[in-house]
Order: sequence, then C-alpha cells, then structure tokens
Amino acid sequence: MSAALLHWISVQGQQISVNQKDFPMKPSKPRPVLQGQKALVLGIANEHSIAWGCAKAFHELGATVAITYLNEKAKPFVEPLAMELESPIFLPLDVSMPGQLEAVIDAVGKEWGELDIAVHSLAFAPMQDLQGGLLDCSATGFSKAMDVSCHSFVRMARLSSPLMRNGGTMFAMSYHGAQKVVLNYNVMGPVKAALEASCRYLAYELGPQKIRVHALSPGPLKTRAASGLKDFDLLLNEAVERAPVGELVDIMDVGYTCAYLASPFASRLTGQTVYVDGGVSIMA
Ligand SMILES: NC(=O)c1ccc[n+]([C@@H]2O[C@H](COP(=O)([O-])OP(=O)(O)OC[C@H]3O[C@@H](n4cnc5c(N)ncnc54)[C@H](O)[C@@H]3O)[C@@H](O)[C@H]2O)c1
Repeated sequence: MSAALLHWISVQGQQISVNQKDFPMKPSKPRPVLQGQKALVLGIANEHSIAWGCAKAFHELGATVAITYLNEKAKPFVEPLAMELESPIFLPLDVSMPGQLEAVIDAVGKEWGELDIAVHSLAFAPMQDLQGGLLDCSATGFSKAMDVSCHSFVRMARLSSPLMRNGGTMFAMSYHGAQKVVLNYNVMGPVKAALEASCRYLAYELGPQKIRVHALSPGPLKTRAASGLKDFDLLLNEAVERAPVGELVDIMDVGYTCAYLASPFASRLTGQTVYVDGGVSIMA
C-alpha cells in the first residue's frame, strides 16, 4: 500500500493507521439500495400475499417490478396493486399451463432485456391431499403439489437466469414444516424440503454466473394459501406465544429481508434458508 494513502488517527490515545480510501472526503448521497434494479414477482393474489410484501419493498427501495396474476378470476384483486407500483409488465401466469411461464419471461426479456431479482412465492396442493396425512396423499396430489410448488421454481430459474446477465438473486418461499414436523402441514412438508434443497443445488449451479439463490422461511401469516391449512389459527397463536420477539411477522418483514438479500450488502450470501419468524424456530 502506498504510504501516501495511509492516514494516522488517534483512537483512545493510540495512534493507528487507516487507509484514506476507506474514508472518502465527500460522503456520497444515499440512494435507494435497489435503484435501477428489475424484479419479477410471481404469486400475488391480494394485498395480504407475501409476494406483495416483496414487490412493495423492492419498489420502495428503487426497483421496477413486474407482476403476474393467476387467471381472470384473480386479475381484479391484483390489478390495482400492479397499478399502485406502476408495473410495466402485468401478465397472467398459471405455472401448470404449458407456455405461460415462458411467455412471462419472454415479455421481461423484450421489455427490459435483463433481470436482477426473481421471486417465486406460490404453492398449491389439492385440498383433499393437503388436509389428510402424508400416508393418505395420492400420487397425483403429491406430484401436483411438487410440480406447482417446487418444480416451477426450477423452471423459473432455468428460464430467467439467462436474463440475469450481471448476476442476480432468486427467492423461493418455504416454511419450517420442511425441517420439522408441523401439525397439519402434511404433504407440504416434503414439498418444501425439496424446495429448500433445490435452492441449494441451484445456488451451486448458478453461482458461477453470480446468481444467488435463497429460500425464505417466514413464520405463519394469515393469507389465502394459509387458510387451506387445518387449524391455522392455532399455528398463529402458538407462533406469537413462542416467538422470542413476542410478535407475529408481517409481509413487509419478508419483503425487506428479500430486499437486503438482493442488495450488494449480501453479495457473498447464497443457498441459505433464511428464517423470518421472530425466532420461533430457535425454540425447543
Ligand atoms: N402464509 C404463510 O403462513 C406462509 C408461511 C411460509 C411460507 N409460505 C409460502 O409463501 C408462498 C406464498 O403464499 P402466501 O401465504 O402469500 O399465500 P397467497 O395465497 O397470497 O399466495 C399464494 C399464491 O400462489 C399462487 N398460485 C397457486 N397455484 C398457482 C399456479 N398453478 N400458478 C401460479 N400461481 C399459483 C396463487 O395465485 C397465489 O397468488 C407459498 O409458497 C407459501 O407456501 C406461506
């Protein structure tokens, strides 16, 4: 290091040397941490959706956000939210319909030519299979749940990674039922375990392209998807009683965590399952 760059300062009476480059003379003006980034968010059903928390956090922190809706029935609930964020891309997406995911990624490529962030926040299992034990889960129910809730994430990664020319970050939404037995979570436990493992393998495969992949594991949140779980209110009550922070999490907690993980502050983190649960998962 050049001697000219060394600066001597006094800390608690001791002279220490610092690199002048670490202390720029003029502090730069703060700017939103995701300024100029392009984000694709899949899985908004309404204003309670976890995906909506992600989209809002990205937008607030400077990103432009593309949004999808399941079908014509869902569109009126999602359209006002897309308008609120002035989303330039707003398209239907049912991941079980051949060609729809391809069409969404194609539109992103045509509109933006690149992508920085992709969020997969969707899940499905047929009600009968979801509400019975794993022993009784049908083969078709199991494979449907796995296809919509897990393999569609792998498809999203494959299709969107070529657009992440300067690197990027991908997120999938998991739950603690992937790691431990949670009453009534049933078939979604093994499906979320596969999703978390997929994040690790994709993080490995996409790492050389500077694409990072994380699973988020939020605590229970009152959403449409959660209402399909038997006795979900008991899970909410238990979470608030057991959480070291003494509160339930909300969708913005999840959104801001994704925003941090997508920011340059987290550029050496990948392949993690990041809990946003007020600490419930550390309790015995
Ligand atoms: N709510 C919770 O307590 C909780 C906790 C941890 C993880 N999660 C996960 O978070 C994710 C988002 O769920 P949420 O709680 O925000 O509920 P939500 O109902 O708001 O979102 C679920 C989304 O999945 C979409 N979806 C279902 N089938 C689809 C298909 N075939 N193609 C495209 N989209 C489809 C729905 O349209 C909806 O937008 C899910 O993966 C869920 O398992 C939820």
